[in-house]
Amino acid sequence: MSRHVVCRVDELPPGQHRIISVRGRTIGVFNVNGEYHALLNRCPHRAAPLCQGVVTGLITSPAQYQRELTRDGEIVRCPWHGWEFDITDGRSVFNPHRVRTRTYEVFVETAPPGEDEDPDADAAGAQLVQATIGPDDPDPTLETYPVEVEQQFVVLYLGQSKPAARPE
Ligand code: FES
Repeated sequence: MSRHVVCRVDELPPGQHRIISVRGRTIGVFNVNGEYHALLNRCPHRAAPLCQGVVTGLITSPAQYQRELTRDGEIVRCPWHGWEFDITDGRSVFNPHRVRTRTYEVFVETAPPGEDEDPDADAAGAQLVQATIGPDDPDPTLETYPVEVEQQFVVLYLGQSKPAARPE
């Protein structure tokens, strides 16, 4: 399984999507009402760039001569021949049990691994402490402060199985 940071959360608001290139394939990452979903950008009909199609909803007919738009923003319509797919699970609207496009796992996480791990930070801190505290000085009482990471990222996972729940 491989992990790919797509963008910051504030760069992909609800109703928006972006198409990215990962390991030789293109994938559409969608924000549907605050939930993130990813589809292979390849229509199972004739391989059109599916995620470049219009994002829409389902038209239903609750009664004669009536039309109603439901699930607005959850359906993508293929730009070539108009087949429609459910963004949340990749299934075709007209034949959901037999036609679908591949989906991927997307999570919202704080910092990407490695960004908060500076191998030189401990060494730099140790040098600072050694320079200001003599060997015979008592241990100082350190004042501490709460620290929060406010920036979050949209992260895509490629692989066979769903990863275990990840901490935010
Ligand atoms: S290629 Fe998508 S509907 Fe034909």
